[in-house]
Formats: sequence, C-alpha cells, structure tokens
Amino acid sequence: MKKRETPSVLFVCLGNICRSPLVEAVARQRCEQAGIAVSLASCGTGSWHVGKGADHRMVQAAADAGYDLAPHRARQVRTADFDDFDWVLAMDQDNLETLQGLRRNRGTAPVLFLPWAGVPRPDEFPDPYYGDAAGFSRAVALAEAGVDGLIARLRQP
Ligand code: 4NP
Repeated sequence: MKKRETPSVLFVCLGNICRSPLVEAVARQRCEQAGIAVSLASCGTGSWHVGKGADHRMVQAAADAGYDLAPHRARQVRTADFDDFDWVLAMDQDNLETLQGLRRNRGTAPVLFLPWAGVPRPDEFPDPYYGDAAGFSRAVALAEAGVDGLIARLRQP
C-alpha cells in the first residue's frame, strides 16, 4: 500500500549497483540533514546483481565524497513497487521504458529522474559501469545535483 503521510521515492537503474544506490545514499544523507521525512529505496530493472553489494568503484567514489554505500544490497524491481512508491524515478530512457512495460498502467507512472529533479542537462544519468574512475566521480556530482532538485520538490507544499 502506498504510504500517504511520508512521501516515498524509488530510484531505478539497470543493475542497482552504481547509479540508483548512489542516488539513494546521497538522498538519504541530504534529506536527513535537511530534516525531510521521506522513504527511500532503489532497485534495478535487471536481475544479474541481485543480493550483491554496490560496485566497488562506486562504493569508493561515494566514500570519497562522504556517502556510505556499504549497507546496500541490489534488488530487482517488482510490480508492487508501482503501488508502494509515490515516485518511481528512472535513471535513463531504457530503464524508463522497461518500467513502463512492467507497470501496465497501474499505480505510479515512472518518470526520468534528472528532468523531474529540474537538472537542466543531461536528461539521462550516464552509466559509469563501463567507464573509468572519472565517470564515477562525475556520477557523484550528478547525484548531488539531482538530490538537491529532489529536496526542492519535496519542500514544495
Ligand atoms: P547501474 O550500472 O545500472 O548504474 O547499476 C550497471 C551495472 C551493471 C551492469 C550495467 C550497468 N551490467 O551490465 O552488469
């Protein structure tokens, strides 16, 4: 059942080991600091990494910026998520389309995270998985920008 009093937000990427757990951790820390009550979670559209921790490169880049990804364990999206979360935020267009197919017009309609958060560009959160270390640092900065937008939205009456 959807939580009505505390808003709930689900971040979704492909593997749930890089982008969405990073955004979840940044949001958890910044919402707590801002005194915003929100229920946060993340998942992947793919099943390859279910039960595993975040990618060690992502864990390191996040730790360098002060975010703890150590407790994270990957999970795959489930159809109940569309009923359970007020916002279902996809990191990129491919994952958005996968979510739209799973949802079958019931529950919360998924949207792209960065445009929803008011980040002017890029629309899609680049996947750092196949890139170099700089991509993981860039991912942290982009997650922070997106989370600032999220907080601004959550503060709106
Ligand atoms: P994420 O990154 O979707 O940000 O967690 C990826 C993680 C794993 C894979 C691709 C992207 N993979 O192909 O296993």
